[in-house]
Amino acid sequence: MITVRDLTVTLDQTRVLHGVSCQTPPGGWLCLIGPNGAGKSTVLRAAAGLLAYGGTIRLGEADLGSLRGRARARAIAYVPQAPVLPPDMLVADYVLLGRTPHLGYLSRPGRRDRLVAEAALDKLDVSQFTGRRLEQMSGGERQRVVLARALAAEPSVLLLDEPTSMLDIGHQQQVLELVDGLRRSAGLTVVSTLHDLTIAGQYADELVLLNAGRVAAAGSAVAVLTPGLIAEVYGARVEVRKGHDGRPVVAPVRNVQ
Ligand SMILES: Nc1ncnc2c1ncn2[C@@H]1O[C@H](COP(=O)(O)OP(=O)(O)OP(=O)(O)O)[C@@H](O)[C@H]1O
Ligand SMILES: [Mg+2]
Repeated sequence: MITVRDLTVTLDQTRVLHGVSCQTPPGGWLCLIGPNGAGKSTVLRAAAGLLAYGGTIRLGEADLGSLRGRARARAIAYVPQAPVLPPDMLVADYVLLGRTPHLGYLSRPGRRDRLVAEAALDKLDVSQFTGRRLEQMSGGERQRVVLARALAAEPSVLLLDEPTSMLDIGHQQQVLELVDGLRRSAGLTVVSTLHDLTIAGQYADELVLLNAGRVAAAGSAVAVLTPGLIAEVYGARVEVRKGHDGRPVVAPVRNVQ
């Protein structure tokens, strides 16, 4: 469904991605991991159509570059790492904006659009805040509202950049299970970044470890989440245990005598 081939991106004369390739089938979940500055957000921004790039990004058979704005916006929803939000906007109005790609020119949201937006608010546990302004929400509540807007767009591909960075552990699980449920029930394809390696390994079927704009390793969680690779790429000391589902649990180890 999404195929990235030889992706290169140059920002302000600095080459940030040096030929990144990765892919995921329809209904798959690909997770980009890697240290700060590795290029994870840049891959997502290129896939969201926000950056000029070299190489190709395909959605099924279609080249992303050939998809027009509205067609692309209907297919792909993107949740940035640090969204800029209009502080005065009401939560309900903001989530309804997710329906914009589905509206005709100059037409207003209809009954179905409102129902879809309400359902998204409900699923993300923020329906009690619909009458609040965005600036009146906590960091995690606001992050869930941004996710609700993305789901309200009913995309076939969801690009999530650190979608749980501000969420407590309960809401983290709730959000990730929700996304996982949508890919199983509706064939949603997910490309995300996640800093928590254990969680990345629990949800994604393919991990792509980026380092300095290149793919350092790719494959299943068991193949990628090894103490050796993590030491090499992150400079971190960890031990990797086997979780109850057989997936790796990555635990930091302190260097104490
Ligand atoms: N406009 C720019 N000009 C030059 N370099 C840039 C520009 N924007 C971003 N970069 C650099 O591109 C590299 C990749 O950034 P990116 O945001 O993709 O990293 P990331 O893997 O998402 O990191 P993080 O884990 O911190 O979110 C970084 O080294 C960053 O400093
Ligand atoms: Mg980032």
